[in-house]
Amino acid sequence: MFDKIKQCEKNVLNFVFNEEGNTLEKFRLDFLSKKGEMLLLFEYFKTLPVGDKKKYGEMLNELKNITLEKYNNKNNNKTPQKQIEKNTLFPTYQNTPGAIHPIRIVEEKVLSVFLSLGFDFAEAVEIEDDHHNFAALNFKEDHPARDMQDTFFIGTNLLRTHTSSVQIREMKKGVLPLRIIMPGRVYRNEDISARSNCFFHQLEGLYIDKNVTFSDLKQTLFYFVQQFFGEGIKVRFRASYFPFTEPSAEMDIWAGIDTEENKRLTKGTGWLEVLGCGMVHPNVLEACNIDSTIYNGFAFGMGLDRMTMLKYKISDIRDLFINDIRLLSQFTGV
Ligand code: PHE
Repeated sequence: MFDKIKQCEKNVLNFVFNEEGNTLEKFRLDFLSKKGEMLLLFEYFKTLPVGDKKKYGEMLNELKNITLEKYNNKNNNKTPQKQIEKNTLFPTYQNTPGAIHPIRIVEEKVLSVFLSLGFDFAEAVEIEDDHHNFAALNFKEDHPARDMQDTFFIGTNLLRTHTSSVQIREMKKGVLPLRIIMPGRVYRNEDISARSNCFFHQLEGLYIDKNVTFSDLKQTLFYFVQQFFGEGIKVRFRASYFPFTEPSAEMDIWAGIDTEENKRLTKGTGWLEVLGCGMVHPNVLEACNIDSTIYNGFAFGMGLDRMTMLKYKISDIRDLFINDIRLLSQFTGV
């Protein structure tokens, strides 16, 4: 392996310039051109196992310096050979920094706002059972969400369809009052499109105490969006329905319709739904052995992918999951 470099070095050193055969041009052709000896050695470098590259690379650089020096001395220091210069960048030693995924950046930022408000952090399993994902959350036996079309079943278990299952696990621990945020990945058997994927990320929030009101919920979320998007962000609450909250609402954020991306993202309305929320249903509290005549609370579940799309103006959710380096590399050093 190293013999070839040594041999080439000998040939370079022994080359005596003369006007007959050994011209400067012949030297260039023999050693520095596309067909020259040195480029073959550079090609060979690429095929080496990582362990051998360091030593081989050093020797090759040394040879390159000797050759260029000899060539440039004879050539009165004219521009060095471009072709060779290009090959002095060894790809294995390039040090490109990695990037934090935009969803992770958004998750960290959301967490930091709620942690600063005194919320604790909790996580739980992604493979759930019917009880934690549905029954304890007041889904009736025949609720359509349990249907094969929405839920991925694994035997008698299932992939959680929302992070609300973590609420149940936390409430069952029996420590009150409770103030927690619970991020995680969730799964739904849906067609993949620009706006929905079969897995995505949610962040659940839960506050259980005495005398919690709907205004507490609204004010908490309102404070959050101001911190996250900046003051002046426009939001609206729409009445909605979830089996586990009563009353229930959804919160939309104003993205606008000034750009093509925003039009596509908001289906032309300017509004993007980012979370569901409401006052925890008494049946849910009772299923977790919490006395609903003493305690109440609010819950919300936020779509982190949606928030990411809104924050970074990404109009196709699939772009968040294909790991295209052209997108990810824009997030280095964030
Ligand atoms: N789990 C609901 C969903 O996935 C969101 C939600 C969470 C709604 C908590 C109300 C309260 O759509």
